[in-house]
Amino acid sequence: MRVGFLQTFPLFGKKGENVDKAILQVNDLDADLMVLPELFNTGYQFTSREETVALAEKVPDGQTTQALINLARKKHLYLVAGLAERENDCCYNSAVLVGPDGFIACYRKLHLFYHEKRWFEPGNAELGVYDIGHARIGMMICFDWFFPEVARYLALKGADIICHPANLVLPYCPQAMITRCIENRVFAVTANRIGVEKRSEESLTFIGASQILGTKGEILYRASSDQEESIVIEIEPGNARDKHVTAVNHIFDDRRITFL
Ligand code: ACM
Repeated sequence: MRVGFLQTFPLFGKKGENVDKAILQVNDLDADLMVLPELFNTGYQFTSREETVALAEKVPDGQTTQALINLARKKHLYLVAGLAERENDCCYNSAVLVGPDGFIACYRKLHLFYHEKRWFEPGNAELGVYDIGHARIGMMICFDWFFPEVARYLALKGADIICHPANLVLPYCPQAMITRCIENRVFAVTANRIGVEKRSEESLTFIGASQILGTKGEILYRASSDQEESIVIEIEPGNARDKHVTAVNHIFDDRRITFL
């Protein structure tokens, strides 16, 4: 299975430009599954609720999701991409999963980071795992990594690959995700962005270092901290199905949850 990511530098509020650019990049690639960053179409640093409502889109009817669906149909691939979702007056920091047959699912970020709490509602739906033929995949968004139960829950539900759109500003995630993969025997694709946003007093620098990790925590590919990049690599999703660490240690069956 060919999986990859885009590491982008979106321009705040320039949705048309950001989406068109990402589509052109994916168009040049040969992949089964591509992961795009959190809020890849809008940029990250919102400054008011009004601005968030104005830029957020309905899912799946909004123009970004529709553009992704068209791309997935044309290229016969699956896409996970982060965007600002609007449902009535509520906004969510969401990720959509689309494929050759259209819209599949929307995940609303459960753990909102910092000022996101001012603009978005926290996710309000159970985490899903989706069979896309080549693999079963789950989605989580950026700061969700800080809560190990998210990756664990997705793995227990059968995810082989955790698709992880991100806009990371703290330095810890790329190394920490190695542990998430080892302890759950799953692949992870973290698609982060680069660049600086300064739309208020505070300047945010995004750390890049998007990566594809193997089921034993191997760094199969890690991107730079400051360049836009795209990569596709070949993985064997079946490696995520054997949860034995030794002949007598199974990472799920050995849990002592009665005492936790
Ligand atoms: C983050 O959750 N965007 C840091």
